Order: sequence, then structure tokens, then C-alpha cells
Amino acid sequence: METLLAALAAYLVGSIPFGLLLTKAAGLGDVRAQGSGNIGATNVLRAGGKKLGAATLVLDLLKGLAGVLIARLVFGEETAPYAAVAAVLGHCFPVWLGFMGGKGVATNAGVSFGLAWPIGLAYALVWIGVLALTRISSLAGMISVVAAAIAAALLGYEAYVPALIVIALIIIWLHRANIGRLLKGEEPRVGSKG
Ligand code: G3P
Repeated sequence: METLLAALAAYLVGSIPFGLLLTKAAGLGDVRAQGSGNIGATNVLRAGGKKLGAATLVLDLLKGLAGVLIARLVFGEETAPYAAVAAVLGHCFPVWLGFMGGKGVATNAGVSFGLAWPIGLAYALVWIGVLALTRISSLAGMISVVAAAIAAALLGYEAYVPALIVIALIIIWLHRANIGRLLKGEEPRVGSKG
């Protein structure tokens, strides 16, 4: 019962579509009709600039962190991996938007910090490193979600590995259009107009 409640709470927190809410509040219309159509920070950056993109990144990260921390503190340690998956599912498939949400990279960063800070740190360092080298957000996101699962296994957090693998598979699946563009060399770089 605790696991179910923890997952439900994490899903609901994760399902708050900050990117959509911020761009609407800024008078930019529906971000889903712009750029890649994603409600995540990368597309909010394209649609609304650096401040709005950064705010979306931070808020999407914080809701992932909150989902896992609420589970650990209120429902018990063992519920944390389930809440981790549920928070990402909430972001990617929010009931409020007909289950059409974001791609989960920022939310999973918060989730990773919530599970164990060294996993979060590994995630953030890989994400920042790949982004700095390539300026391709989707590539940085996909590599960092895999890195989080590997980091959990290497750093002694085996209990979190299955959840992080499930999350990585969901996130990579949601990037299939990005993968297609990457293979064709057409994926836009952060800061470019493409
Ligand atoms: O976090 C989302 C990012 O990985 C890709 O976003 O808008 O380029 O599809 P976008």
C-alpha cells in the first residue's frame, strides 16, 4: 500500500507541466506547437529564451527530487525506486495533457539526486560534459540517463539499478525522433536556430 501511495504521489508531482505553464504565463502560447513540440527545458529555451529554459530545467529537476524525497520520508526507503519511475512517468505521460508530456531528462536528474547524491552528481557531470562537447541536448540527455544506471551499479546502489534502467529505456524511447535526426545529422544544437 505504501509503495502504491508513494508512486501515486510521485506521479502527481512529476506530472506538473512546468514548461507549458511557464511559457503560457509568459504569453508565448503553447510550447507544444513550437520547436520540437516538447514541453522540456530545451524546447522552452528555444521558444522563450535562457531564463525560461533555466527555470523549466530547475523546476522539472526539483519535482523529480521532491517525488523521491516524499516517498523516502513519508512512505519508507523501500518505496524510493518505485517513486523514481513514477515521477518520470508523471513528467512523460501527464494525465492532464492526455498523457503527452516531456522526455524526462531533467526530472530524472532530480530523481537521481533523490535516490543518492553520487548518482545525481554522475548524471549531472556526464550531462554537462556531453552538452559542453556537442551542444546537443538530446544526446547529452540519453547518455546521462544510461550513465546514471551504470553509476548506481558501480557505486554500490544496486537496489536502484532496475528502476534507473527502466527510466533509461523510457527516456531513450521518447527520444526516437531525436535519434532519427541525430543519425541524419539534423539534430539542432543548443544555441543554434535549427
Ligand atoms: O530533455 C529533452 C531533450 O533531451 C530533447 O529535447 O526539444 O530537443 O526534443 P528536444
